[in-house]
Amino acid sequence: MGLFKRIFGICDTRRPADDQCWIYQDKRVVIDLNRAPELSSVDGAIRLEGKGLTQRVLVMRGKDDRFHAFVNRCAHMGRRLDPLREGHAVRCCSVMHSVYDYSGGVMSGPARKPITTLPVTQENHRLFIPVDGR
Ligand code: FES
Repeated sequence: MGLFKRIFGICDTRRPADDQCWIYQDKRVVIDLNRAPELSSVDGAIRLEGKGLTQRVLVMRGKDDRFHAFVNRCAHMGRRLDPLREGHAVRCCSVMHSVYDYSGGVMSGPARKPITTLPVTQENHRLFIPVDGR
């Protein structure tokens, strides 16, 4: 990631190409995997914002081939997160780039607290992620 992007806190992960691949309803995100090809490969990710969500959410397919979801907010200064190509981790897009494992624990960087992970349940081609109003 370029220095310019890190200084301005611009993350690599994009919103889904098909914005209709997800909804936020009854305090949970529902993603239709058939419409979210970004999540079909390891380290693929989408960031979900808007649609009434009270918090930004990052959803990714990890190197463990499982889906992981996080409140998309670094515990240091609140920047967005991206999957880290090296290792089972996500990394803050800022200059200081704190790194967290899939459990949200801090692996490196200035963050002193874990990030918030969100449980992901898969039923057939859909993912369900509860997101409360914290
Ligand atoms: S905001 Fe993430 S390391 Fe500073």
